[in-house]
Amino acid sequence: MGRIIETTEISKVYKMGSEIINALVSISINIDKGEYVAFMGPSGSGKSTLMNIIGCLDTPSSGTYILNNNDVSDLTENELAEIRNKEIGFVFQTFNLLPRATSLDNVALPLIYAGLNKYDREEKAMAALASVGLADRASHKPNELSGGQRQRVAIARALVNDPSIILADEPTGNLDSKTSYSIMDLFQELHDKGNTIIMVTHEDDIAHYAHRIVRLRDGLIESDEINENVIATGPQ
Ligand SMILES: Nc1ncnc2c1ncn2[C@@H]1O[C@H](COP(=O)(O)OP(=O)(O)OP(=O)(O)O)[C@@H](O)[C@H]1O
Ligand SMILES: [Mg+2]
Repeated sequence: MGRIIETTEISKVYKMGSEIINALVSISINIDKGEYVAFMGPSGSGKSTLMNIIGCLDTPSSGTYILNNNDVSDLTENELAEIRNKEIGFVFQTFNLLPRATSLDNVALPLIYAGLNKYDREEKAMAALASVGLADRASHKPNELSGGQRQRVAIARALVNDPSIILADEPTGNLDSKTSYSIMDLFQELHDKGNTIIMVTHEDDIAHYAHRIVRLRDGLIESDEINENVIATGPQ
């Protein structure tokens, strides 16, 4: 399996007036294609900051980040957006769906930026919805779906471009436990199909679906371990 992510001593400094916040101090981490990694750590330890850099939503203050053999440490906004579109599928705690758009249109949205015609967009979006078990909810709007279904639509949207990496920042943070486990079952399926997944979670039982657990503290990696107790199927 090839290397997909390689960061070397990346830092992130935020300046707020006279205050300087070292959100990431020095992070060196390698992730291979097909890995399933959980980032854990206390609030403020830098998890989202690191995810945003890995997802090309932001760039590091120093250090290098190689994504899929491209140095993306120092790109412009536009260059980052292009890479993001091609390489990254995002899943957020709050789903981030367009409230007035149907499931199908929400999932098809990234394909507009990719330049596909309407017919191809709808065909791909339908296939992505089917892959998360929601073919029969294509014309529903987000407020006509359950929380778990909304997150499935968001996951279908993340998958529709066939990205190299799926990044999920607390994907189960707004879901009850039963729904959370069903979302984790879906992630496991995606991992079994060869997708690379990185997720942030506060919950130990959710982290244990991942095959590797990285703990952050104060902008540093505190531990980085193989998870010996991978949950094979969600508690029923
Ligand atoms: N845009 C920003 N401007 C200034 N400071 C920021 C910004 N984003 C994050 N920070 C600060 O950087 C540190 C790391 O924040 P980050 O959001 O990465 O933490 P986190 O580990 O994701 O926490 P949580 O578990 O609460 O989501 C925090 O001290 C935060 O206040
Ligand atoms: Mg966060």
